[in-house]
Amino acid sequence: LENGSLSIIVLGASGDLAKKKTFPALFNLFQQGFLQPNEVNIFGYARTKITDDELRDRIRGYLIRDKGASSKDSEAVTNFLQLIRYVSGAYDAEEGFQQLDKEISKHEVAKNSAEGLSRRLFYLALPPSVYPSVCRMIRHFCMNKRNIESGQSEMNICNVPLCNHLTADLGGWTRIVVEKPFGKDLQSAEELSSQIGELFDEPQIYRIDHYLGKELVQNLLVLRFANRFFLPLWNRDNIANVQIVFREDFGTEGRGGYFDQYGIIRDIIQNHLLQVLCLVAMEKPVSLKPEHIRDEKVKVLQSVLTIKDEEVILGQYDGYRDDPTVPDNSNTPTFATMVLRIHNERWEGVPFILKAGKALNSRKAEIRVQFKDVPGDIFKCKKQGRNEFVIRLQPSEAMYMKLTVKQPGLEMSTVQSELDLSYGQRYQGVTIPEAYERLILDTIRGDQQHFVRRDELKAAWEIFTPLLHRIDDGELNPLPYKPGSRGPEAADELLAKAGYVQTHGY
Ligand code: BG6
Repeated sequence: LENGSLSIIVLGASGDLAKKKTFPALFNLFQQGFLQPNEVNIFGYARTKITDDELRDRIRGYLIRDKGASSKDSEAVTNFLQLIRYVSGAYDAEEGFQQLDKEISKHEVAKNSAEGLSRRLFYLALPPSVYPSVCRMIRHFCMNKRNIESGQSEMNICNVPLCNHLTADLGGWTRIVVEKPFGKDLQSAEELSSQIGELFDEPQIYRIDHYLGKELVQNLLVLRFANRFFLPLWNRDNIANVQIVFREDFGTEGRGGYFDQYGIIRDIIQNHLLQVLCLVAMEKPVSLKPEHIRDEKVKVLQSVLTIKDEEVILGQYDGYRDDPTVPDNSNTPTFATMVLRIHNERWEGVPFILKAGKALNSRKAEIRVQFKDVPGDIFKCKKQGRNEFVIRLQPSEAMYMKLTVKQPGLEMSTVQSELDLSYGQRYQGVTIPEAYERLILDTIRGDQQHFVRRDELKAAWEIFTPLLHRIDDGELNPLPYKPGSRGPEAADELLAKAGYVQTHGY
């Protein structure tokens, strides 16, 4: 940090997201020295009436996941927890936010030198229904002081998007972090965006999609644009199809009420998988500047054609409706496979198959790029499968290329093998940061590269809204599948129809 103080305010501090993701990410940053006790204050805000110590006790157990924690770790936990204070109040209560502002200001002053900067990061670990009122409260009562005194927001002082040195000159900043779901369809998302947009400028709004913080998702840009290998191959002439797959081996237990309102398409495909698709399919950005990258992502999204009903398979696992918070007649999909088609010069005719499911036989997220057959094959190796390039996002990050080699031995026969880069082996001893940890650090640094811009969000909803409305209206219904299975068999048939040639089980 430069001179001054940083206040991180977690709204919804007693909720699940805050406990499981936000506070542990902050703790990791603290442990690595990114959050210095002489500069940083952390505040929790929620409706529950508890004391500072009660909040600290609630969080403590979530901070260290590793069972072999040392005494140094426990000391770090204690020091970290000392930075946290709690204020209770409703999400639309002026008094609550006035009190919050008083607390922030008090501790800010203690850590702020006379010419120091006031930086306030508001993390909304809350349901989107309260975003508008919370944003209004923050805007009216809790902005960083120097900006408020000059009566100007970050953006309109200079009329240019901000970068760090500018914000520094202007006396700090206020930023807000919001989580998906951003709305339920195009219209509701646009309404939400306008409401927030009236209160904050785009450079102050950080829309998190935590998949953009995953190591191997971030690696996609490097892989594609820093390697000569991929440049000539990454197109419709060579690639037969692309699969982007998310599987979980557990159901929606404990969050059926939330899930049933959204379903797998809104929960995973419209955001996490679509963001990955953008990075796989986009053209090379002019530079690594956030706006350049996001410009290219928007172009991909705008080139996606309307999804055809016959290229969608929905599923719902048996037992999903047994959850008391799920209606007995729910037609919410817990599984979906669909084909997206990108109408541009690079990808015309290449199916992008997005697949996501809960309660399946394994937990895995991967990108599988399948290449076309070799023309004029003299080895008759077609039956062994095609070249594939697989990027496993989790678990056990890895990239591997499936290729045909000579079967070692006296015969001139072929076999499928792999060039394998497994991160666990190659980067032994390197800790891969948690997605939230990295994204919160980006927010503090003012780097929006890995956050979703408003027009990107709009374009993403434009792709899925017609399909989602047909599902909501009961025109498309999910097929049943057994928990612990691969999902409905019809999904494999759709894959085959889209041209995917199975090599071996995955
Ligand atoms: C969340 C979804 O965004 O991502 C959850 O709401 C899902 O339903 C989770 O379980 C998966 O995240 P990860 O990082 O475990 O793949």
